[in-house]
Amino acid sequence: MTHELDYDVLIIGTGAAGMTLALTLPADLRVALVSKGDLKAGSTEWAQGGVAAVLEAGDSVEQHMLDTERAGAGLCDPAAVRYTVEQSSAAIRWLVDQGVPFTEDAESALGYHLTREGGHSHRRILHAADATGQAIATALASQVLAAEHITVLSWHTAVDLVTTEKLGLQAPAERNRCLGAYLYNRQQDEVISCRARHTVLATGGASKVYLYTSNPDGSTGDGIAMAWRAGCRLANMEFNQFHPTCLYHPHAKSFLISEAVRGEGGRLLLPDGEPFMHHFDERAELAPRDIVARAIDHEMKRLGADHLYLDISHRSADFISEHFPTIQKRCMDYGIDITTTPIPVVPAAHYTCGGIVSDLQGRTDLDHLYAIGECAHTGLHGANRLASNSLLECLVYGRAAAQHITDHPEPVAMPDIPPWDESRVTDSDEDVVIAHNWDEVRRFMWDYVGIVRTSKRLLRARHRVNLLQDEIHEFYSNYRVSNDLLELRNLVAIAEAMIESAIRRRESRGLHYTLDYPETSAEARNTILPGKTRAQTESSPGRL
Ligand code: FAD
Ligand code: SIN
Repeated sequence: MTHELDYDVLIIGTGAAGMTLALTLPADLRVALVSKGDLKAGSTEWAQGGVAAVLEAGDSVEQHMLDTERAGAGLCDPAAVRYTVEQSSAAIRWLVDQGVPFTEDAESALGYHLTREGGHSHRRILHAADATGQAIATALASQVLAAEHITVLSWHTAVDLVTTEKLGLQAPAERNRCLGAYLYNRQQDEVISCRARHTVLATGGASKVYLYTSNPDGSTGDGIAMAWRAGCRLANMEFNQFHPTCLYHPHAKSFLISEAVRGEGGRLLLPDGEPFMHHFDERAELAPRDIVARAIDHEMKRLGADHLYLDISHRSADFISEHFPTIQKRCMDYGIDITTTPIPVVPAAHYTCGGIVSDLQGRTDLDHLYAIGECAHTGLHGANRLASNSLLECLVYGRAAAQHITDHPEPVAMPDIPPWDESRVTDSDEDVVIAHNWDEVRRFMWDYVGIVRTSKRLLRARHRVNLLQDEIHEFYSNYRVSNDLLELRNLVAIAEAMIESAIRRRESRGLHYTLDYPETSAEARNTILPGKTRAQTESSPGRL
């Protein structure tokens, strides 16, 4: 039997990156757009603050580049920064053409309101009130559903990539090539094979590896883990960004309080009402995120406090309702009136700055495999992402990868993909172990690989992750797959990559702060993990 599905382009991920790419491809290509949930399952839907872009006469590409590089603590790739920022206004024009209703401002020459966030020297964040991601996801999803050449495969979880190397078809002098992927149909409870001339990973970030996160449940780093297992290099996985201000409330599942609240004058306060950020950085509340999150962590530990406060109540109630309606409503649901009361806040894991090594067209180490959006490492973010540069990166590289695929239409001989082998596995009767391991990995990552690290804690984390790897490997080899098992397998690979990268970085820089190496080295270097070999990833005779 041959593969069940066959497409020109298989896009795994339906966030801003995946949908942008799908909509930019020519309509004569057969495109599959896959999500393990519905079309809006990723982080994109939850984005609040906005998209950074150079749009006004007073701003400049050079200034946006400088802000990005300053936040990135010396580790940004200047070519990636320049390319992204130079493409920003074209990307925004494209988004407006797709029907995204950005907040307008009749008094500005641009016609739109621009807000400000930490690390930006200029107002340059285009937004749709405080629900920018929802506005973008809604507009793009309606275009996707109207496009006849795009097939949406919701509730399908990609299991692993299929490559010429895995099938034993890679000739000695040839590069390894991606041929498609296995997809687990969650509703039918079966794995199907999907062959594709081009495969694109647009699977988002991995912040779910931490106990407390602003991210939705599916941010388990699947694409990063799949690419690593298929032989791609990963870069800078030690730099996971913690957002300084998530709502602290026993029933709020880490709801984000946008950095734009600080951009519009919000002050961070200690429990006694004293501001403190000016002790840590001259930019105070508008310092880059790594500095603000570390300052909050420091003050919470010093005072033994379980949260601090963010206060915007000095702005008028009308201003707050106009700019932050979503945050106002959500806080009100928990009995907090932000027009009169400071908001209780804590930091939480938010963004994966590292990822799959990819170039300015989204190309990876495997031929015909692209990575775009949060799962990719383009070099834009360095050691700490500048606020609102992520949606921008999704748009710019989604468009660039689409262009590269369009420019390379050459037909390639495609071998068949064998069906998924279920012959040597049984149903699991130990799902409780999977649930337990989920909790365990997220808790030790929070405790040992968090905002402030030490070598001893990292080694402890490495020991625990090794034990979990063995257990999960056995599960994967012997039992039928489930969505929870697939995500856990990926989460543990992500934990391994983050811990390994953190151990290798013997300095403090950007988001990686360790008490054992508090200084920043003179020379900035990327941490590159080589792709896994076949010997490291083989699971059972029948499974690729
Ligand atoms: P996502 O939008 O995360 O989409 C991932 C997709 O991949 C989903 O469709 C998911 O179902 C699919 N997927 C994952 N694994 C698999 C698999 N194994 N099989 C099949 N499908 C899979 N950035 C900004 O620039 N500005 C902001 O204001 C902003 N605010 C934010 C607020 C919050 C609360 C959060 C969480 C993030 C915010 N960010 C912001 C970051 C930004 O939203 C994300 O980095 C960006 O949306 C990621 O887009 P993406 O397309 O790469 O992935
Ligand atoms: C926010 O609104 O604070 C999130 C912005 C971002 O993550 O870029």
